[in-house]
Amino acid sequence: SAAEKGGYDYFMLKEIAEQPKAVADTLLGRIDLAGNLCLDEVRIPAPVLREVSKVVIVACGTASHAGMIAKYAIEHWTRIPCEMELASEFRYRDPILDQRTLVIAISQSGETMDTLMALRHAREQGAKVLAICNTNGSTIPRESDAVLYTHAGPEVAVASTKAFLTQLVACYLVALYLGQVRGTKWGDEILSVIRELSEIATQVEEVLETMEPVRELARTLADKNTVLFLGRHVGYPVALEGALKLKELAYMHAEGFAAGELKHGPIALIEQDVPVVVVVPSPRGRSVLHDKIVSNIQEIRARGARTIVIAERGDETVAPYADHLIEIPATPTLLQPLVATVPLQVFACELATARGNEVDQPRNLAKSVTVE
Ligand code: AGP
Repeated sequence: SAAEKGGYDYFMLKEIAEQPKAVADTLLGRIDLAGNLCLDEVRIPAPVLREVSKVVIVACGTASHAGMIAKYAIEHWTRIPCEMELASEFRYRDPILDQRTLVIAISQSGETMDTLMALRHAREQGAKVLAICNTNGSTIPRESDAVLYTHAGPEVAVASTKAFLTQLVACYLVALYLGQVRGTKWGDEILSVIRELSEIATQVEEVLETMEPVRELARTLADKNTVLFLGRHVGYPVALEGALKLKELAYMHAEGFAAGELKHGPIALIEQDVPVVVVVPSPRGRSVLHDKIVSNIQEIRARGARTIVIAERGDETVAPYADHLIEIPATPTLLQPLVATVPLQVFACELATARGNEVDQPRNLAKSVTVE
């Protein structure tokens, strides 16, 4: 009913709008005033976490994109080797796991069969499993050694939005906690990341307030056949997420690529007027990454692409190559997916509406996939 949707036309719109609160709720009580992580609820004893030699993340769909981003954060902040693997692939290739492996299973519903099977397999091999989950008491957390709930509140729309952002926050918390427990020598970078994480809800809110041009743009693209998405570093999983949202909601051909892979094949797809969404990393600090993507944008634009550029506010170097510029607030690179994904959700939702699709219940899809 309309009341359930809080005045919005679709649950998806309501859930997109709820993201600042969802993100704040995931953080609530988990970082103290001194910037320490308080995750006693993670019932894997500190001595076990200190011995972890490898982290393996298993998940499906959108949750796997959160896992890909988590890999960057975990390796960068803790120096523990980390892999992300699609849960449906994991179990069938005889993965190497032991008592020192920490498996993180990410699932909104907690009922995804592929993810459940992957975690059962991991536990049989002696690995410890930490679930990151949004649904209290669901099967995946029940069968795991520990759980960190995302507290996003119920997500009704099939397309995952607020669950994704809160999965990211939970992953950052786990990464920071692992570093804290293991006594990783942290410089100022970590303290500033923790501070910025505490302010991220406000930034997500800012993004939401500036989405009208994104909706207008989406409407002009309703008759396109294909949209491509490019990103580097954590912008790459964001590109994959943007493409997935468009496939499931707009039923359009959409693909995400690592921008560095362009010249290894995908650039052949670029022709006059193909919309290409590019996620640009912050120009601060990691300027090499930024410079590389700017030249990628120039390359595709020279071949006729219509460039839709998501970049940090005030990033003047990209503006001349952007047919459409979507500005997002400045964040540390690793946190950027929290703000960069939001315009892509809005974009897909609006395109779906413009194409007359059922936003909350896309064809052929179920909210939780309880079969393998
Ligand atoms: C996302 O928009 C999808 N509907 C889907 O990829 C989903 O994220 C995936 O099925 C995993 O679900 P889970 O988080 O409940 O395990």
